[in-house]
Amino acid sequence: MKIVVTGGAGFIGSHVAESYARQGHEVVVVDNLARAALLKRKISEDQNWSYLSKIKGIQLLRKDVRDPKVMENAAKGADVILHAAAQTAVTTSLVDPATDFSSNAIGTFNTLEAARKADVKAVLYCSTNKVYGDNVNSVGVKEGKQRYTFEKNFEKGIPESFSIDHCEHTPYGCSKLTGDLYMQDFGRIYGLRTGVFRMSCIYGTRQFGVEDQGWLAWFAIATILKKPITLYGDGKQVRDVLFIDDLIALYDKFVKSKVKHGVWNIGGGPKFTLSLLELLDHLKGITGKQSPLSYSDWRASDQKVYVSDIRKAMDTFGWAPKIAPEEGIRRLVAWIQENKARLG
Ligand SMILES: NC(=O)c1ccc[n+]([C@@H]2O[C@H](COP(=O)([O-])OP(=O)(O)OC[C@H]3O[C@@H](n4cnc5c(N)ncnc54)[C@H](O)[C@@H]3O)[C@@H](O)[C@H]2O)c1
Repeated sequence: MKIVVTGGAGFIGSHVAESYARQGHEVVVVDNLARAALLKRKISEDQNWSYLSKIKGIQLLRKDVRDPKVMENAAKGADVILHAAAQTAVTTSLVDPATDFSSNAIGTFNTLEAARKADVKAVLYCSTNKVYGDNVNSVGVKEGKQRYTFEKNFEKGIPESFSIDHCEHTPYGCSKLTGDLYMQDFGRIYGLRTGVFRMSCIYGTRQFGVEDQGWLAWFAIATILKKPITLYGDGKQVRDVLFIDDLIALYDKFVKSKVKHGVWNIGGGPKFTLSLLELLDHLKGITGKQSPLSYSDWRASDQKVYVSDIRKAMDTFGWAPKIAPEEGIRRLVAWIQENKARLG
């Protein structure tokens, strides 16, 4: 197969690229290496570029998904496109909504048009739980000592049928939702096989987490580099967390399945959840270190609890998350310790 991975130098995309290249497929990465600039952070600008350049079968194109010609050329002869390229931070989207919109909405549209014209067999879209906006906060929560939990009716998490309307989103939520809806419609209208994966917190190795995006990796990096950590809110916010290898396994199941198109909520589900405070405790246990901690106001549209209802994905694909947070965090910490110099 020929597989195009947009955002392939990023965290999720680089794992997809590596996984297919190591299976002997032809992989084309399209990435403009914008993460450090978008986030205005001192992280490696190379991201995962040089790592991927050493793997046989990967062609690296330093190009922008906002250019329709780039995507048309990349899609020629492709069997699968994994579309991960995006402006990924809510905070950046608030100060620069135009870049957010062009990268996320237009970039996704260009990807779909290119896929349609080239008759690509499957397109996977990295959507987000943020498409549900702050509607999630209308679900009652109970406050515990270290975490919030959903009240009854949502013990299994947020399903795909949850409303995306009549709530606050943020520009990031809007631009990602735009892509999400176009993916669904290109599936219906043009018969493209489009898989929309609304992901909660994905974490793992090669994740250049910063305060504005990739919170789990950021907390681990800050702890190891002894940088101060600010908790926005009270730290009892809860997310379900999914280790990258489990996500890659799921994507591959979609690629190999006969499923036409659909939307799936993806994360660790109710079994694999963490609050911010609980993560800090784990990190202290593993590393013996603790960053200086301060508190600040809640962030715009932050969700007190978000847990994905992953039953649809489990039923459709016979998939389940396998790597528990304790193990996933250990692997992430090991990677950070080997790559301190590139993490700012
Ligand atoms: N990591 C998570 O927990 C999570 C959760 C929900 C959704 N997502 C989505 O998954 C995708 C991948 O996220 P990630 O965590 O790997 O982020 P990442 O920042 O590591 O990867 C995104 C990549 O896209 C590239 N990029 C940005 N704008 C581009 C453009 N205009 N043209 C080409 N490349 C561009 C960046 O350089 C970067 O390498 C994103 O679409 C994000 O919205 C991630």
